[in-house]
Parts: sequence; structure tokens; C-alpha cells
Amino acid sequence: MKNSEFRFPGLSKELIDLMQKAACKAKIHRLALVGGAVRDWLIHQEDPNRIANTPDLDFVVQGSATAFAEALVQELLPERIQTYRLHSSFDTVELQIDGLKIDLATARKEEYKSPGENPRVFETELEKDLERRDFTINAIAVELPKGNILDLHQGQRALLSKELFFLHSKSIAEDPTRIYRGARYAARLGFRLSSEAFEQLNSTLVTWPWSWKIGNPPEFAPPALSTRLRKELELLFKNEPWNLSIKYLQEWGALRLLDEGLQSDYSCLRRLHWSIRLGLPTLPALIIGASNPLSLAARLQLPQSQQNLLSQSLDLESFLLKSEVEHDCLNWSPVRWCQELEDQKWSPEAVALLACKGHKVWHYLIRWWGRWRHIRPSVSASELIKKGWEPGPKLGKEIQRLRWDYMEKEKIK
Ligand code: CTP
Repeated sequence: MKNSEFRFPGLSKELIDLMQKAACKAKIHRLALVGGAVRDWLIHQEDPNRIANTPDLDFVVQGSATAFAEALVQELLPERIQTYRLHSSFDTVELQIDGLKIDLATARKEEYKSPGENPRVFETELEKDLERRDFTINAIAVELPKGNILDLHQGQRALLSKELFFLHSKSIAEDPTRIYRGARYAARLGFRLSSEAFEQLNSTLVTWPWSWKIGNPPEFAPPALSTRLRKELELLFKNEPWNLSIKYLQEWGALRLLDEGLQSDYSCLRRLHWSIRLGLPTLPALIIGASNPLSLAARLQLPQSQQNLLSQSLDLESFLLKSEVEHDCLNWSPVRWCQELEDQKWSPEAVALLACKGHKVWHYLIRWWGRWRHIRPSVSASELIKKGWEPGPKLGKEIQRLRWDYMEKEKIK
């Protein structure tokens, strides 16, 4: 490989030259940038300053990524390397050089034993590696050293028409997380799902090619309908215009992959807005609108704390349903609300989450969460201790009682 004149945002000429040198040493004949970095570079070619942050760079090598990484690292002073992580089973390497995140992967094709499972991967050539990807806009490669573009699937045309096309007709069946990725791209880039992609989504949902069905034990769901789907949702809420992404998923019918109840849950965006305002985790707030929230939370393998939060909110919901019938809770006083909520030890987050769900008594729940529980009685704990009270649960109960008395006396609403 000859010295390059090719320029790419965030990638210095010196590093490109070192990569070329390492590629020669490791007998790598083809080295290419792929994926999101290339897509964004092409979108913003006129004005590279519009690329918000230097993206993570994904490189594909035809040959061993590990051998290439080893050769590259030898070219660099150790202080320039912040991360060097080999994943031998997939022959991929995570690197951070001068602060720049670089992923190296051996060109691979994928074989799915059954739809939605993790694929088995086999070494292949660059062209085949591009075929296995999600959207045509993510399947454009820029080969080093010259920077020539390899666009075998009309990705640049899709960039111009702002459309998302899958690369093949089994894309969603093999990896249903891709439609969630699509919603992220549609929202972030202002793209729309092509009619072909939409048809593929509809027919896949109708035929449901996965051996696992909603209602089956959650622990048997394949990764693309469980943990990998959760990771896509986490990215969606963390990095993207999430409200637009969720709106698209609902419009496309893709929330059905999570749960039929969520697909027809039109209060979902309002609930999510509220949960963010109240500082609650978003996934439980999404999932509480499902037909079977606990089963969905278990399927997605939400952290145990979030599964507990959901389970408490649902318990509280049943408690309120019973209370409405048996104890006329719609007419409870503020103090009675405090007593009932605090005696049962619902966590404040569980109460707030049910309020976000728009439960009939949401305004009482919100008042308890935001106001009543913070009211302090006229006598403080330290004053009671000075009067001879021992610190401990009994003192806590006394403070609570004094607080309720104070609320009663002051007619707090
Ligand atoms: N990819 C895929 N199918 C997936 C996940 C990823 O085909 N389920 C491919 C895509 O070609 C994608 C690349 O792997 O471009 C890297 O994935 P990722 O790092 O998640 O996305 P980026 O390309 O970095 O794009 P962005 O971060 O903007 O989403």
C-alpha cells in the first residue's frame, strides 16, 4: 500500500499511514472504513463540521483483525493507546488511540441457525461482509489507502432519497432488532422506511418466523427478541430523539415485537415524558403499558431493580383497585393517602411510575410523591432525641405520626 492522501474526519494522516504500514506487515490486503462513520461522512461531506462528535470508527479488514491490531500497536508508543481489547471468538478488536475509538473486525458473513438467534460467523471477503449488514446506508465502505468508495447496494442513492432499505428479504426475520435500529435512524437522520422495508416488516410480523412466541416462557426468547432488543431500546432512549423513534415504531406496527398492548397504547409517549420529568427509568415506564409487563421485563432482562419497581407499581395498582371498591379511596383525605401509601411501604418511584401511567388517582399519587411525603413536622428528630427518644424505627414512626398530625391541623391539600 502506498502513502495516502485520503482524509477522514478525526483520522490523522499519520495514523492512516501507520495503519497502512501495519496492514502490509500483517499481510492484510484490504482495509476499509464502514458503517455509521462513513454514512455520516457522506451525509455531511459538504460541511464536515456538522458531524457533532468524532464518531467511533469501524474498520473491516480482509484477513485477521487481531494480526492487524498487533502490528498496528507495535507501530505506536504505548502512551498513545488507551484501550486494547481482543475478542478472539469473533476476531474483533477494540482500540482507543489518541482518544479515538476504533473497532477492527475481520470481514465476515453470518449464518443464522434459526431466526433471531445469534449468528455463527465465518471469515469472508469485504464485499460479502457488506451484504450481511442492516441498511444499505450502513453498507458503504471506504477503502484505504486511497479512499475509494465501495457502494454495491446503492447506499448513496438511499442517502440522497433519505430512505432506509434492508439489504435482503430475511433481514428482520434474522435480526428483528434492526427495525428498532431503523426507528433510531429515521428519527435521528430524518429518513423514512422504504416501502420495501415496510412490506418486509409487515409480512415478517404476520408470519412470525421465530420459534418463540409472546406468551411463551420469557427465558426462552432468542437474543434478538430479548437482551439485544433491550440494548437497542437503551440506545434509543439514551442517544436519540426517542419520542420520534417510539412514534415511528408504533406507526410501523413494530411495537408488536414487544407486546400487543404496547402497540395499541397511545398514552405511551405521554407516560414516557412524565417519567423523564420525574427522573424515573424509561424502560419500566415504557413497559408498564404492556399487556403483561412483568413477563416483558423478564424477557428483556431488565435490571432486577427495574423489575422490582414494575412489580411494586403493579401491586400498588391492584391495591388501589381493591381500595376503590372496598374503601372508597377516591374520597380519601391527604393524611389517609399518606397512611395507606406509607404503611404499605411502596417505594416513591413505584408510586410515581403508577402516576405516570395516568392512573385514575394519579393526582393524589403525584401530590404524595412531590409534596406530602416531604412535609416536616414541627418537631424534628434531633429534638425528639434530646427529649429522650432512642434513634430507630420507633422514632421514625413517631415522626411520621407527627407529620400526619401536622398535615391534619394545617389542612394540607
Ligand atoms: N449492524 C448490523 N446489524 C445490527 C447491528 C449492526 O448490520 N443488528 C452493522 C451495521 O452495518 C452498522 C455496524 O454494524 O453500521 C456497526 O453497528 P453500530 O456500531 O451499532 O452502528 P454504527 O454504524 O456505529 O451507527 P450508529 O452508531 O450511528 O447507529
